Amino acid sequence: MTGKIYLVGFMGSGKSTLAAALGRALGWAVEDTDTLVERREGMTVAEIFARHGEARFRAAERAVLEELQPRRQVVVATGGGLYAEPDNRALVNRDGLAIWLDVSLKRVIERLPRDGRRPLAADQAGLARLYHARQAAYRQAHVRLDADDAGPDELVGRVLDRLER
Ligand code: S3P
Repeated sequence: MTGKIYLVGFMGSGKSTLAAALGRALGWAVEDTDTLVERREGMTVAEIFARHGEARFRAAERAVLEELQPRRQVVVATGGGLYAEPDNRALVNRDGLAIWLDVSLKRVIERLPRDGRRPLAADQAGLARLYHARQAAYRQAHVRLDADDAGPDELVGRVLDRLER
């Protein structure tokens, strides 16, 4: 048992919701890389993208991931692009149990709020391209959860089963 879980997967796959539920079930801390990036930069994700571009966001995301390395007994909800970066993926897979919340593109589109908080979800064609391009990366997670029709309670149950094995 690694003492650390990373939830990876596309935007709208339910990583933050599951992280909170898992944290409660395990009695572990919960962290969210988007929130940590916003705290570090003093701006929202949308502001970072708009003012400084995606590269600046990715650099901050990487720094946050490095800072999380020593932590144990923590569930980390990652931003959808974090695990798509090969260096980040290697770090995550070495450091903890990577769990992919696999959801269909249809569900992603249904679930994503159009609130402007996710710059890469602004246009649907771009979103679909990104979704398909990232599948191969997400497949490298240690565990895949089919999260299309399962609620957080059921997913927590499946993760706990897996941790007991
Ligand atoms: C991104 C996903 C977002 C956030 C940023 C970029 C991505 O996180 O990190 O908007 O590249 O997929 P969520 O997956 O929590 O929406």
